[in-house]
Amino acid sequence: MTSKIDLNKVLTIGAGGMVGSYVNFGIKTDHRSLDITDFHEVVRIVKQHKPQAIIHLAAETDVDRCDRDPNYAYLVNGAGTYNVATAASEVGAKLVYVSTAGIFDGEKTSPYAEDNQPNPQNFYGRSKYMGELIVRGMLKDYIIARACWMFGGGPEKDLKFVGKIIRQFEKQEIKAVNDAYGSPTSGKDLVGAIKRLITDDATGIFHLSNEGSCSRYEVAELIIETLGVDVTLTPVGLDYFPGANRVKNEAMSSKKKLMRPWQEALQEYLETEWKTAIKN
Ligand SMILES: NC(=O)c1ccc[n+]([C@@H]2O[C@H](COP(=O)([O-])OP(=O)(O)OC[C@H]3O[C@@H](n4cnc5c(N)ncnc54)[C@H](OP(=O)(O)O)[C@@H]3O)[C@@H](O)[C@H]2O)c1
Repeated sequence: MTSKIDLNKVLTIGAGGMVGSYVNFGIKTDHRSLDITDFHEVVRIVKQHKPQAIIHLAAETDVDRCDRDPNYAYLVNGAGTYNVATAASEVGAKLVYVSTAGIFDGEKTSPYAEDNQPNPQNFYGRSKYMGELIVRGMLKDYIIARACWMFGGGPEKDLKFVGKIIRQFEKQEIKAVNDAYGSPTSGKDLVGAIKRLITDDATGIFHLSNEGSCSRYEVAELIIETLGVDVTLTPVGLDYFPGANRVKNEAMSSKKKLMRPWQEALQEYLETEWKTAIKN
């Protein structure tokens, strides 16, 4: 089957971040070249490129900042997504919206499936869910790609959990939460799966975390083991770290098997993007 979408005609918006660094096809804009809160600019740039598909990665992803400033979270993740969806609709492009497991309330005791009911518990989750509702309400040709506990970007762009653990290596003891669960997601694998869904001309909601689930403690354990460092890892409870309301369970299951096990993806990431940097 030949795809009706040419990857050279895919526009990625918000490509300056962690996930965007793995997009090696099509046209890309970053925050500086296109601010998604500027309605007229979004429509102008999209009309200029006439993409067949748009990958929308632009977001305020700092969970604590979203809780401190909900209006800003809704502006970027809600209204910004409205602007991108309007532009997609005007040029007839498929829209890929990257969302999060943070739209669920964490009360479920097994992994969340695509059709489970969202019930976000913090302003990041609420604003991202607002984005989902906008995309589903305005468009027919969309992919909502939910990810969870993302890693990627290497020493330069990895400001999330994996990068944070590695930056603590000079300490003698590192603490990690062992009573909350999620599904780690490789940014590189996420982009690969999105590419596959676009070329298959898929539509709908997809959970695109790597296969499996674990605690942050287990992720930290694998980081320490793979990079061969001598540091003590201590388990702590979810309440140990202050900040925006975090939930007990963000693990996801997927209706379509596009992603490899999280351990394999994380080990490859550490070997290829961190090992040399750590040794220097
Ligand atoms: N990281 C995770 O754990 C995770 C988990 C699930 C889902 N996601 C979703 O995955 C997508 C990509 O996230 P990521 O991990 O690559 O995060 P990221 O590194 O923070 O990238 C997001 C990008 O959006 C840009 N941006 C922010 N406000 C913008 C605006 N008004 N207009 C245009 N661009 C703007 C940021 O630019 P500046 O840095 O200049 O502000 C940044 O380059 C997001 O939709 C996020 O919600 C992330």
